[in-house]
Amino acid sequence: MRIDSATRDQLQAWEKELSAQYERICQHELNLDITRGKPSAVQLSLSDKLDGLLNGDYRAGDGTDTRNYGGLDGLICAREMGADILQVPTSEVIAGGNSSLTLMYHAVLTGYLFGFAGNTPWREMKEPKFLCPVPGYDRHFAICEQLGIGMVNVPMTATGPDMDAAEQLVKEDQEIIGMWCVPKFSNPTGVTYDEETVERLSRLGNIANPGFRIFWDNAYAIHDLGQQVNLPNIRTATVENGTVDSVLQFASTSKVTHAGSGVAFVSASPANLASLKEQMQAMTIGPDKVNQLRHSRLFPEFSMLKDHMKKHADILQPKFACVLKHLEDAFADSDLGKWETPKGGYFVSLDTRPGCAKAVVKLAADAGVKLTPAGATFPYGKDPEDCNIRIAPSFPPLEELDTAMSVFVLCVKLASVRNALQS
Ligand SMILES: Cc1ncc(COP(=O)(O)O)c(C=O)c1O
Repeated sequence: MRIDSATRDQLQAWEKELSAQYERICQHELNLDITRGKPSAVQLSLSDKLDGLLNGDYRAGDGTDTRNYGGLDGLICAREMGADILQVPTSEVIAGGNSSLTLMYHAVLTGYLFGFAGNTPWREMKEPKFLCPVPGYDRHFAICEQLGIGMVNVPMTATGPDMDAAEQLVKEDQEIIGMWCVPKFSNPTGVTYDEETVERLSRLGNIANPGFRIFWDNAYAIHDLGQQVNLPNIRTATVENGTVDSVLQFASTSKVTHAGSGVAFVSASPANLASLKEQMQAMTIGPDKVNQLRHSRLFPEFSMLKDHMKKHADILQPKFACVLKHLEDAFADSDLGKWETPKGGYFVSLDTRPGCAKAVVKLAADAGVKLTPAGATFPYGKDPEDCNIRIAPSFPPLEELDTAMSVFVLCVKLASVRNALQS
């Protein structure tokens, strides 16, 4: 189906045919949901051994009684796990509570209220702003929006954020004090940043305001679906470029063990960690070390964690294949949509023709298939082209996903044809 070269008669014929198919589907009263990237119950069950694993032995390897208060940095064995995931020194890692998003919120708040490493607190600036590669993760944008930090869109490409745009913006505006990055299997496009992008990002610290920080949310660091994809190491690059203070890294076991009760990690330079801890110590006496110990006992070696991730991949891979096959079959020879082919992570995202995403989501909802709201992948919920839709294949069983995708591609076709008829 090629809309651009179709005659009006052809469009009308397609509209009639697709509407009839759509009406038939609506009669099935489906109730399917491909909105949020949650692990399925089968994936969660891979880690059920966590329950009872300690069996009364609460002492960590270094003798710490994990039941008691203390240890703001987290257990050494948990910090080692974070260091393995992020490929950084253990001394630069704090192991925290169950959510990396909480650590990110805390870190943004630290920059905003107090400033990192002696730099001006962002709240004292006239108009502090973050660069936001788009499409991106809605919860990152929500943090900025809640604190009144402005957001500036930077387009995502197949190799990461458009670095010409990012460098230009940072050069022109010294009130750009942060940037969100999901560098591996990006949410939602699935793209992994390439060598040049990571190198150029590591040099931003040399042209930006000294208080500028990149929030390197490596949520999908070990979530490869097949062969391991290599993400260039940003810490190494910042060491080489003299910008170690410009990056804070985050990860968690949320999509490794139990999503709601994992362990989260933040890694940063000694100066940044000191700033973070100064605020943290007023907030908590320490993290849940019992849970940290359970996680370390489940995966005493990094190789075991990686083997565990292969089991996740075996469950997820057919679901990604299903989504990609639907997109391929429906749109490969069309001008109806563009997408990347992720080699890991939790999402596939489709760019429809401009002006169609909201209509697709509405049509799908009316047919009983819930999608992430159109616009959610952009700051303030505003997709200027109204074209991006995030698909999250992980949660529903394969058969349900297959049905949901059949409905989805039909809705994309119908919305595209109707949109073309209106213009
Ligand atoms: C990019 C990204 N970062 C962070 C999170 C949430 O992580 P956590 O559960 O550790 O708070 C998600 C969850 O979907 C995510 O996609």
